[in-house]
Amino acid sequence: MNRIGLMAAALVLGGLVAGMAGALALTRASQARAGADATHRRADADAVARGRYLVRAMGCNDCHTPGYPERNGEVPESEWLTGNALGWRGAWGTTYPANLRLSLTAMSEDEWVRYAHTFETRPPMPWFNLRHLGDDDLRAIHRFVVSLGPKGERAPAYVPPTETPKGPYVQFPAPPGP
Ligand code: HEC
Repeated sequence: MNRIGLMAAALVLGGLVAGMAGALALTRASQARAGADATHRRADADAVARGRYLVRAMGCNDCHTPGYPERNGEVPESEWLTGNALGWRGAWGTTYPANLRLSLTAMSEDEWVRYAHTFETRPPMPWFNLRHLGDDDLRAIHRFVVSLGPKGERAPAYVPPTETPKGPYVQFPAPPGP
């Protein structure tokens, strides 16, 4: 081979080696990305599972899922937290457990965390318990509800104390006197 031929061969070889190194780097990068995706999916699955656990253990379904206490909790998860037309009537009027499948999926995770730490409602919603949850637990609840997706209609509107609700309701006794 003459000099020019040799140089050309060296260039081709160099190009090949560089190409292979590039391909290797690309493979590594996509492997790292796949690894990160798998870790992310695992973290997400863990958060969803924790959210499911918290929703069940904290009793959110007791009020926000139709028929849940009456059927000993035997309600398919697809029906959970769709709101309840069974009212709670007391000195505050009549309140209806909101459809959390609509309200939580309409908020970002950060919005939910801020909201959960600050909101107050009429009875018997235990908002005073919810605000003590840590941010990670609140995020897990949000992930779980988002994983279920939006479903159902809005719960009936609040009825003031002077009006009688049209649908069924649970009557609270008057608050204990001083
Ligand atoms: C004892 C019944 C009861 C339980 C238990 C309960 N809720 Fe509620 N919740 C209600 C009622 C009733 C309202 C509507 C209050 C109102 O209209 O002022 C409400 C309202 C809410 C709201 C505000 C409305 C909205 O869509 O933003 C959120 C958020 C909420 N509940 C989340 C939860 C979560 C999460 C749990 C479980 C940790 C839970 N609730 C447990 C009865 C309950």
